[in-house]
Parts: sequence; C-alpha cells; structure tokens
Amino acid sequence: MRPNRLADGAVHLWWINLDTGLADTSALSMPELERARGFRTERGRARYVVAHAAVREILAHYADTDAASLSIVSQPHGKPCLAATPAGPTVPAFSLSRSGDWAVLAVTQDSEIGVDLEIDGSVPDRAAMLAALTPNERDAAAMLDDDALTSAFRVAWTRKEACLKAAGIGFAVDPSEVEVSLDGAPCSIRVPSAPGASLVYGSLPVHVVTLAPNQGRTVSLARVGVPITTAQVVQFDMSRYHSLPSRHKTNPINKSGAFKCAESLQS
Ligand SMILES: CC(C)(COP(=O)(O)OP(=O)(O)OC[C@H]1O[C@@H](n2cnc3c(N)ncnc32)[C@H](O)[C@@H]1OP(=O)(O)O)[C@@H](O)C(=O)NCCC(=O)NCCS
Repeated sequence: MRPNRLADGAVHLWWINLDTGLADTSALSMPELERARGFRTERGRARYVVAHAAVREILAHYADTDAASLSIVSQPHGKPCLAATPAGPTVPAFSLSRSGDWAVLAVTQDSEIGVDLEIDGSVPDRAAMLAALTPNERDAAAMLDDDALTSAFRVAWTRKEACLKAAGIGFAVDPSEVEVSLDGAPCSIRVPSAPGASLVYGSLPVHVVTLAPNQGRTVSLARVGVPITTAQVVQFDMSRYHSLPSRHKTNPINKSGAFKCAESLQS
C-alpha cells in the first residue's frame, strides 16, 4: 500500500455516506466498539461504525498502514489524532463531523484542521440562535428575517464548531465567545484559550471558510495558521470500496467508483 502524499497546503474533504448498509466493525478499536455499543438505536450504531471504519480506511492510506493497526489517540479535550510512529511517514491531521446520514472527514498536513457539517433540519428558536452568537454577530443578525437568520446561523454555527475543533478544544470554550463572519466570506479569527488545551494555537490565527451550501448541507472548514484556498472534495462509498480489487485501493484519490472526485472547490 502506498501513502497518499498531501501536497503543501492541500486539504482533502471526504464525503462518507453512512447509510450504505455495511457496518463492518473489524478494523475498529476497543474504545470505538464500546462507543458503538452505547447507541440507543441500531441506525445510530450502524452510522457510527460506518463513519469510523471509513475514517480508518481513508487515513490508513495517508499513514501507509492498514486500517486496523492505525493508532488513533485522544488529545486532552477529546480531539482525535494519529499517533506518530518514529519510523513512519509524517502523519496527517484530520477532523470528522457526522450529521444524519452523512459524515465529512477533512485531512491536511502540517497544521491542525477542523470541520463541521450541519444538514438542514430543525434549528433552535430565534432567541436560542441569537444567544449562541457574540454581541457583534447578534447586532448583525438582529436585522435578518427568520429565514435569513436560519441560514446565517447555520453558517456561523458550523464556523464556530470548525474553529473549536481545529483548536482541539471543542465546547470547552463557549461558541458564543468565538466571533466569525455570518456572511460566509473567508475570515481569520483568534480562538479564546481553554484550560488544559495541549495545542499551541493561541498565537496563531484560525482561518475559516464555508463551502457553498449543497443539497441542504452546510460545511465549514478551519485551519490553524494556514489559510484554506482550495479543497479537493472526494466521495467515499464504503460498500464499493470493499468490492474493489486491492490494486485499486492503493491511492485514495484515484479514479475508481469508490473514490469519486466530485469537484475542486475554490473558496
Ligand atoms: C467535538 C464537538 C465540539 C462537536 O461535536 P458534535 O457537533 O456533536 O459532533 P460532530 O459530528 O461535528 O463532531 C464529532 C467528532 O469530532 C471529533 N472530536 C471530539 N472531540 C473533539 C475536540 N475536542 N476537538 C476536535 N474534534 C473533536 C471526533 O472525531 C468526533 O467524532 P465521533 O463522535 O464520531 O468520535 C463536541 O462534541 C465536543 O466539544 N466534544 C468534546 C468532548 C470533551 O470535552 N470530552 C472530554 C474529554 S476529557
């Protein structure tokens, strides 16, 4: 198996359909199996398993190992990362978001990345949406009618989460303290620090972009220290992947049906 080298500054964004009906647990770690067992519904469990099995298959290519032996560890606030191996190639940074029947996995090299996906559905009421914003964002949002506020909120919320995930601190910092632009234009922000955070992100700006909304899905990407100018978007189909001959599994971004390169986004 050959590792897939990420070019300098490249971001690969993988779309993973979670309702493929192939919930294979064989590559999952003990903690992943334990989490899978904790889901109340079979559908929730299957989606979690498909997401984590796919993440392992995809990252295994970059790290030049196999999915089951990939060592994924947690940072202090819960951000997963690949454990570095002294002999192995430089491991990429990644971020996962799951919403409904889809997951997105963002992968890049040499900088921390965060991604957040929201699929259109119920949103909080107007007061709750405004409460999740900073005072400046609230002023801008106050002029918007309900539909415009809902769209702006989805953009803002995915941006805030993407930034908090890039910084590795998750909800240890309240999203209402993270100021992003509501209009979807690329922006650079400072994320407030969190106690016990292991990452050195405080001195660097976090750059955030929002992809053009597509089929009711809003996705924002954030990267620490390095602006995001393009993202190569790839669709991953787990059941088609499993039916591929192994010679076609050597490069994640290839031309087979399991890795359909949908578009290259200019942000
Ligand atoms: C990550 C978080 C910000 C967003 O979660 P969400 O919107 O519900 O869910 P998403 O699907 O967008 O993201 C979840 C994924 O983010 C990743 N993640 C978890 N914690 C993270 C963190 N601190 N930073 C970045 N990514 C994180 C995981 O890959 C997770 O996937 P999984 O649930 O399949 O394992 C929120 O769940 C959070 O703050 N978690 C931290 C939990 C925590 O503090 N744990 C204590 C450890 S001591």
